[in-house]
Amino acid sequence: MRTPIIAGNWKMNKTVSEARELVSEMIPFLKDVQGVTTVLCPPASALLPIAAMLEGTDIGLGAQNMHWEANGAYTGELAPAMVSEFGQYVILGHSERREYFGETDETVNKKVHAAQANGLIPIVCVGETLEENEANQTSAIVSRQIQAGLAGVKSDLVIAYEPIWAIGTGRAATSEMANATIKIIREVLADIFGNEVAQGIRILYGGSVKGSNAAEYFAQSDIDGALIGGAALKADDFVKIVYVSRAEVMKGNS
Ligand code: PGA
Repeated sequence: MRTPIIAGNWKMNKTVSEARELVSEMIPFLKDVQGVTTVLCPPASALLPIAAMLEGTDIGLGAQNMHWEANGAYTGELAPAMVSEFGQYVILGHSERREYFGETDETVNKKVHAAQANGLIPIVCVGETLEENEANQTSAIVSRQIQAGLAGVKSDLVIAYEPIWAIGTGRAATSEMANATIKIIREVLADIFGNEVAQGIRILYGGSVKGSNAAEYFAQSDIDGALIGGAALKADDFVKIVYVSRAEVMKGNS
């Protein structure tokens, strides 16, 4: 049984005071929730103050990106050890990083290695564009992203399948479509790590998940949680998604 993960990717939103306000609304509901792993990924400027707020809770903290080098002349970047001072997770290869900041499977691969070497759990994002989806290339694209992005890494990681056409658009993939692609991803993981290990790796769906549609995803066999963008900026919606995922786990256990 895989413990679901609900991770909030705040993207470039929330000043420190806004971040504090949002987290203080969430903490009473999330601080000791069982049966689901909750992770908040605020912007880099809020990592330190939010880490202080999350101390003593079961809520995880992550960055949205980092560089693979340990230090040096990389203006504007965060090193892995700077992230691991505060957080346990790091989102890598998000489609917005790939599209706007030139990230490739090769740079994602270097970052996954660096994250693991620094004790961070990478949340590695993969997903196809609308054109690729319409040309029936989804499975080829995600397979390539997984094979190249994970070359030579350890299995301590989380995958997020995010069809690019479903991110921030309100046009979510159906739960059946998402589950079918996630099954393909698990097969590729089985080729890399062996079947038993692949069965234990959490694979999330991301793209327009909200409190109102979350249950359909979590009811699917291979979807182990969600990476949430817009809905992670609203305390009540994010809390609802966490509670819905926990309810699905309890159903599965009974
Ligand atoms: P969304 O974003 O939930 O706003 O669609 C998801 C993501 O980009 O991680």
